[in-house]
Amino acid sequence: MSKAVKAKAREKLDLLIVNANELITLSGETQKPRKGKQMQEIGIIRDGGLAIKDGRIVAVGKTAEVTKAFKAENVISANGKIVLPGFVDPHTHLVFAGSREDEFQMRIAGVPYMEILKAGGGILRTVRETRKASFEKLVENGTKALDSMLEHGTTTVEAKSGYGLTTKDELKMLQVIQRLNQLHSVDIVPTFLGAHAIPPEFSNSPQDYVTLVIEEMIPKVTEKGLAEFCDVFCERGIFNLEQSRRILTAGKNSGLKPKVHADEMSHLGGAELAAGIGAVSADHMLFSSEEGTKAMAEKDVIANLLPAAAFSLMNNRYADARTMINLGAPIALGTDFNPNCWIENQQLIIALACHLMKLTPAEAITATTINAAYAVGRGNEVGSLEAGKKADAIILDVPSHKFLGYRFGVNLVDKVIKNGRIVVDKEASRNEYRILEEQKM
Ligand code: NIG
Ligand code: FE
Repeated sequence: MSKAVKAKAREKLDLLIVNANELITLSGETQKPRKGKQMQEIGIIRDGGLAIKDGRIVAVGKTAEVTKAFKAENVISANGKIVLPGFVDPHTHLVFAGSREDEFQMRIAGVPYMEILKAGGGILRTVRETRKASFEKLVENGTKALDSMLEHGTTTVEAKSGYGLTTKDELKMLQVIQRLNQLHSVDIVPTFLGAHAIPPEFSNSPQDYVTLVIEEMIPKVTEKGLAEFCDVFCERGIFNLEQSRRILTAGKNSGLKPKVHADEMSHLGGAELAAGIGAVSADHMLFSSEEGTKAMAEKDVIANLLPAAAFSLMNNRYADARTMINLGAPIALGTDFNPNCWIENQQLIIALACHLMKLTPAEAITATTINAAYAVGRGNEVGSLEAGKKADAIILDVPSHKFLGYRFGVNLVDKVIKNGRIVVDKEASRNEYRILEEQKM
């Protein structure tokens, strides 16, 4: 614990969490995303305690140290459980209308994702439904997704536009995201993804759509302060390298930090583009080259890997995370929540990453907390349990971090603490359906 903290003996706080089997701090010396062996170092304190006041972390240490220095009205025991930072989900298409369960049947039968899109389905189908939907309906849908994310331990989430593809509809989506950020306790980081697909109105003149994105959409989005990042679906048959570079450069010049949907279905050079342009992250990377990954590692561009998206493509191909870690690229992990890949749960992403990409639980925890926080520009605010950071923490009902990925398909969350408040409490709700001994009599 810091000296400043020790000096104020028995200061009264809002909340103390004590006796955690493992308090996973993710604390680190560097103010940068973790790479290589650092991804294994998750800063475990056994019998750990966490002190919280005014929505912030005040101290982190052994239970004995923390309870000696502080008292609080509300003291939670995490005995037998683990405490870690709330998950950050660094890649979602949070807001959309409708669903695509019929396309799921087609993909099972072997129809590729790109063919469905070329036939006017996929993203374009969701665009049609999202354009038709009211602002209120989109807020309702987004709220449901955020509820579910929070219940699974996610406390900060990135959210992209990209199902509007007209200036008006892209602005509508970003305003829905802004509204959700006001209405929900999950923090949202907005990304402008006007370059998600070529809309049908421009199918014969894609260059004109690129011009619209650059000359009309980006200026309006930045003028209204509706996004922090600009993203492009850089893919064969969608936006080529040159178009992607132009859009991301225009965004960067207007103050939007670049992100790239890179090398998801083919090797186009998205990783090289991300490194060259100084992107914060390159996402997917199923087909990225070693050269591209090395270039990213040199510039600390985060490889934001989305194993559930790869799983949904049903091609048995996943990003080569081990090589990326060996090459020194920092790895983050996200859900890619979208109507093709409908998953709100970062715990299941950890399980997929461990099973299919051979990450260890410790690496996958780093990738869903501190590195994911850096991938959304919040590395100084969330992603680790350190004094001064937001009090976003989760208590999982497992005795060690090694159970993450190992126990999968169920929600391990016991409690979620957001801004210092307990917002999810499974233990409390379980008392509703467990029959007490005396009631049985
Ligand atoms: O990250 N690849 C492009 N965008 C999403 C999918 C969006 C959709 O299919 O609606 C992705 O996989
Ligand atoms: Fe995506």
